[in-house]
Order: sequence, then structure tokens, then C-alpha cells
Amino acid sequence: MEETLIEIRTDHPAVVKTDILVVAVFEDEAAYTDPQIQELADRARDWPEFSGKSGDELMFYDIQGVKAKRVVVLGIGRAEDADRETVRKACGKAVNRAVAADLASLLICIPEPGGKASGRKAAAEAMMEGAVLANYRFDLYKKEKKHKPINKIEFYAEAGFENQARRIAKKTEIVCQGTLLARDWVSMPSNDKRPTRLARSIAKAAEKEPLETVVLDTADLKKNRMRAFLSVASGSSSRPQMVVLDHRPESWEKTIVLVGKGVTFDSGGINIKPASGLEGMKQDMAGAAAVAATLICAARTGFAQRLVGVAPLVENMPSGTAYRPGDIVKTASGKTVEIGNTDAEGRMILADALDYAINQYAPDVVIDLATLTGACIVALGEKIAGVFSPDAKLSGLIADSGQKTYERCWSMPMPEDYRELLKSDFADIRNVGKDRWGGAIAAALFLSEFTKGARWAHIDIAGPAFASKAHDYCQPGGTGFGVRLLMDLIEKL
Ligand code: BES
Ligand code: MN
Ligand code: ZN
Repeated sequence: MEETLIEIRTDHPAVVKTDILVVAVFEDEAAYTDPQIQELADRARDWPEFSGKSGDELMFYDIQGVKAKRVVVLGIGRAEDADRETVRKACGKAVNRAVAADLASLLICIPEPGGKASGRKAAAEAMMEGAVLANYRFDLYKKEKKHKPINKIEFYAEAGFENQARRIAKKTEIVCQGTLLARDWVSMPSNDKRPTRLARSIAKAAEKEPLETVVLDTADLKKNRMRAFLSVASGSSSRPQMVVLDHRPESWEKTIVLVGKGVTFDSGGINIKPASGLEGMKQDMAGAAAVAATLICAARTGFAQRLVGVAPLVENMPSGTAYRPGDIVKTASGKTVEIGNTDAEGRMILADALDYAINQYAPDVVIDLATLTGACIVALGEKIAGVFSPDAKLSGLIADSGQKTYERCWSMPMPEDYRELLKSDFADIRNVGKDRWGGAIAAALFLSEFTKGARWAHIDIAGPAFASKAHDYCQPGGTGFGVRLLMDLIEKL
């Protein structure tokens, strides 16, 4: 992971030799003060099929006085409506097209007012995000690599904006490369990311950064009495692992802990999933992937506070040694859990991981990310994550970061009277409710039993962790959801 993709240039775009020159245009006003660039944008509006509304695109070839082979003009709508996501998508689309056409070079002009809804720096950042994220294909398992990513994406900044643009580029590229790393991990098939293997892959990526990495093995988990975590592992021939990444700058005031669900394959266990639900369950470690990638980004950007990432990794399988419905297991916290359903495994491993993280690091804030419930997808669809927290200010901050990064998060309730769903006749608590109603809330309430009053939020990413369809800056597969969100959030905590 190196930030070498984006380059800032200051020579006039018209004299730069490139495969595509990318220019954005508002529907209602000029996007550039430079008359020559604005003239290119205006040229598109002479065509009836192009009005400048968001999503409009027009390509020109061999324009006189322009060295670029092609000029693509992107509509980004009315200036006052043009928000970060509008420019992110427009830029993503242009890069995506360049990748699909096997082009080698691109020069992108950042719209100067940036859209009244966002501003110029925001537009630069969002455009760079769209560019880096769109320039990615998961083709590790294909003999023939259909589309080669571009190895240099240039942005034009005129002299006064140059230094700022460079700083934005550096940070943005780190964060987006982190997102792509998380995508790699999530898209990787489960046969190549059993817990030990994934732990090694995470440790290897972390090794290059100033991070302290510890991997807890079965014996360590036993020592820590993490029986809930171990009970999930018991059905699999793969050993469970818990990866801890610690970013400890020279001086810090706050400790933030991130916990990520890392089920490398979720068959459901003895409560095995129906055939249709199984194939996608390689994605069930997306929380762990996002947390690990965020730690790497935080180390690379020199985040000022202490940040610890905890990723319990395990495979949930049925077998003669698997845990069963009706079993009662004692968690690290001492509370006993009656297993109502072995497919509610995520909350079991998180119960122990949260308990461990809170005891060990006494954090000021704990955030967990988990592909926890199908119910959350029913509630919010495939693109929006559910946020659960007793702390409304914290869930508000998360929702704000979600809006900014467009890794959208919606605040969900945690009604006290719903705790009754988790009552057990024989143990302290059951791992599932008596029926399927309010399943995402029941899961969040279960987790809250293990947070010991710490300032905590749970983000259910079962929907947005994986894309079944391509969009402007993400192909089908892991989305890397959470990395950009968390990188924005931790700055505000
Ligand atoms: N990993 C699943 C949740 C999930 C579903 C993630 C679809 C991504 C896409 C989780 O472990 C699970 O199986 N949850 C159960 C809980 C139920 C048994 C209470 C569910 O949602 O059905
Ligand atoms: Mn499950
Ligand atoms: Zn699961």
C-alpha cells in the first residue's frame, strides 16, 4: 500500500498529453475561471443530449488546441446541489470508463467553486475518492486480467491550490487504499482466509506500519475464558484467532477501541443456513476487515490518539464438535448465555471481544462493526448501516460521518423493554429473541450486556458490506464499507 496513484499537476490542462482530460460542468453556472477549461465544459452544453445534470456525460475526440486525446465532460447538476457524492460518483464513472477502455492516463480538473453544497476542498477530496475507489478490480483469481487499473491519475491544480491539493491527495489516497485493502479481504473466498491465514495476512499488512500487532491463539483465548468465542469455533477444524492492532502515538489523551466481527465463513452452524443464504457468507468478516484497514490508515496518517483494533476471527461450521442449540456457555464477562440459535454467532464472539477490549484498554469510546443481522438489511436495505448506541450524541456523530463519506448510517432505537426478548429460562441471557421481530435491535441489546457502561456504539453493516451490483465507484464484491467512515469519525471523538 503506497500512495503513488494520484499526482497533482500545475501546468495548464490544454498542454498536457493524456488519454482523457476530465472536466466537470454545473447545470447553471461556470465551474472554472480559466476560460479555456470552461469553454470545453460549455461545448458539451451545445448538444441536446447534455444539460449538465448529474450523470450526464459527453466525450469529445481530437479537440483543437488541446493535447489530450479525448475530453470527457461530466454533468454534476446545479451548483447549489452538487454535494460530495455527486462529484465522487461523476469522477468514479469517468475513471471506471477509462479502466474499462484500458486507457493509461487521466487528467482531472477539479471544479473550482466545488459546488456550493460542499466547497472546493471537499470537491477535491470527493473527486480523488471517486477516482481511487473506481480504479480497482478484484481479479486475483482470474487467469486473464480483463481490465488493468490505471497506475497514475493526475489532477490539475492551479498554482494557489497546489499545496492544499497535495495534502488532500496524500490523505485521501491512504484512506482509499485502506478501503481497497478491506475490499480484497472481504472478496477473498473463505477457503483462502481461514482465521489463521487471515490473521497472518492482517499482521503482514500491519507490519509495514508503526503498529503493535498481537495475535491471540486458542490457548490465549482459553486463558482469557472466552468461552463464547471458543464455542463458535468448536465446530470448525480451523483454529480461532484474535488479532489486536495497537496504534500508540508518542503522546495521546484518548483511547478509542474498534472491534470488528471476523467470521470468515458463516454456515450458520448446526442451525445451518438455507442454500440461498450460504454463498454470500464469506463476507461475514467485513467488520474485522474494516477495523484492521482503519488501523493501518490511522498509523499511516499519524492519527493523534491511541487507537486499538480488535478482530476476533473464527469460522462457524456444523460438525460433531460444534456447539448446539440449548447449550449454555459462560462468557468472559461471567454471564451465561443459552444458545437459541447457532447462527447468532457474531454476537457470541463480540460479547467476549468487547469484554476483553474494555477490560484491557479502558477505552473512552468503543465502536464495533459487524455484519450482524439479516434483520438490519430488511429494515434499511443493502446500502445503509444501522447504528445502535445508548449515547445519542455518539450515534449522531456517526450518522454525520456517514453522510459526509456516503457510507450511510441510520440511528436505530434500543428500547429497554425489548430486553425481555432475550430472557432465558436457564441462563442469564439467550443469544436470540423468541421470534424474529426486531432482530437487529435484539442483537444490539445483547451486545450492550457486555459493554460495562463504556461509551459504545454498534454499527450493523450486514447490508452495505458487500455489493451485489456495480455502481460508479465500486464493482460487485466487498465494498470496504467502514474504513472511510471510521477514519472520518475518529477525528471527531
Ligand atoms: N452473518 C449473519 C448476518 C448476515 C445476513 C450478514 C446476511 C450478511 C448478510 C448473522 O450471523 C446471522 O446469521 N444472523 C441471523 C440471526 C438470527 C439467527 C437471530 C439472521 O440475521 O438471520
Ligand atoms: Mn450467523
Ligand atoms: Zn454471521
